[in-house]
Amino acid sequence: MNDVATMEKIVALCKRRGFVFPSSEIYGGMGSTYDFGHYGVLLKGNVKAQWWRAMIGEREDIVALDSAILQHPRVWEASGHLEGFTDPLVDCRTCKQRFRADQLEEASCPRAPSKHPGEHKDCDLTQARQFNLMFETTVGPVKEEGATAYLRPETAQGIFINFKNVLAFARKKPPFGIAQVGKSFRNEITPGNFIFRTREFEQMEMEFFVPPEEAERWHSYWLEERMRWYLDLGLREDHLRLRAHGAEELSHYSSATSDIEYLFPGKDERSERRWMELEGIANRTDFDLRRHAEYSGEKLEYFDQASGRRYVPYVIEPAAGTDRATLAFLVDAYDEEVVEREGQGKGEGRTVLRLHPQLAPVKVAVLPLVSRDGQPELAHEVAARLRALMQTEYDEGGAIGRRYRRQDEIGTPWCVTIDHQSLEDRTVTVRDRDSLAQERVAIEELPALLAERLSAPWRSPKLAGDPA
Ligand code: GAP
Repeated sequence: MNDVATMEKIVALCKRRGFVFPSSEIYGGMGSTYDFGHYGVLLKGNVKAQWWRAMIGEREDIVALDSAILQHPRVWEASGHLEGFTDPLVDCRTCKQRFRADQLEEASCPRAPSKHPGEHKDCDLTQARQFNLMFETTVGPVKEEGATAYLRPETAQGIFINFKNVLAFARKKPPFGIAQVGKSFRNEITPGNFIFRTREFEQMEMEFFVPPEEAERWHSYWLEERMRWYLDLGLREDHLRLRAHGAEELSHYSSATSDIEYLFPGKDERSERRWMELEGIANRTDFDLRRHAEYSGEKLEYFDQASGRRYVPYVIEPAAGTDRATLAFLVDAYDEEVVEREGQGKGEGRTVLRLHPQLAPVKVAVLPLVSRDGQPELAHEVAARLRALMQTEYDEGGAIGRRYRRQDEIGTPWCVTIDHQSLEDRTVTVRDRDSLAQERVAIEELPALLAERLSAPWRSPKLAGDPA
């Protein structure tokens, strides 16, 4: 199978079909900020729903949390972010732009003669200095009198500062986890690559508290679980890998971290694919609980009444980016093929998102063949029945072939077509997005049939077709 996706094609499809728009566009845009449209909201919502399902729907040792974005400034002192959450920054005296000193290979200078990445080596760069990535704001109506606060750069700290609250009500003992999904903010020096690296983004993080001597075993366990999650949702195995951090790369809190990386396509056909981080899975040791205990004066430990043992748990943290995962699912699902024009046998190209049905923004589209002769009325009736079970869309505008193509491009797994025969015998055709097979089904049986297909295990047809 050829990898036909490029970032240019994905960005264009996202805009054309209402997944993701550049933000503030009518004012000329604001670099690297994006707004999610209807299908983007549904797709990202499904990614989060699948994550919650894996964290709390299918197991009992994890509880949910939704902590505030603004937290006491001491949180960021204790966590080490105020002091250490920095990137090395350099200025280019030629083009007057700023770059991350450790990412110069990827940067290109607009004033330099060629536009190839890495050409900063010829440029006139200042010494690197450390730049804190946290956004500062002022709390209170009068700026001068207000207290400085920070927009959280990770959701994790909201979990650590609630450790005691959760322990008190949840009746859990280590090993147990606290999971959270929410926005985080980082003043990235070089955001970019569409929604891959932005200054405002969403994270899906879970802190799993374990007895210290079990930390390594749970680290391996979560590496496997999280890889399986991406694979079960349809990402190609050869586009995913685990990469362990070298000692120089580890965050200040971590004793071991491995990243799940995805092989993202380049901007266009000529650019190379690159392995980039989707999720980090870290052994955070007891660093955070100890630091918060020290800074707050609260005891943040676990007392095991059965053994009489008191200890500070270690933490294993799978930390994923919602936007990055959404982008990887989009890229991996993207396909182009030449098909017989439905009904006419003439070859034409189609673009299709072969998304896992659970992730697809719309599960089923109900389409009357013509918008007269009672077909729209019956189609509305069928759509209403399906809507009670799954995300359903009704569309009666334009030629049927164009309506199919539109649903293909947003990844709708099934199209239900109402035709003149439907009015006579109450049957409809169900068209499969991937195989393009059409079958005739009684309206009475349709809801159960589609519900069953939606919950069945799924394997990407891209994988099924692979010679490997
Ligand atoms: N609590 C640990 C933590 O925040 P991280 O590796 O810095 O670890 C976790 O972030 C995940 O959040 C990353 O793997 C990535 O998917 C996502 N992420 C981080 N910075 C991001 C950014 N600027 N834009 C989009 N996603 C980002």
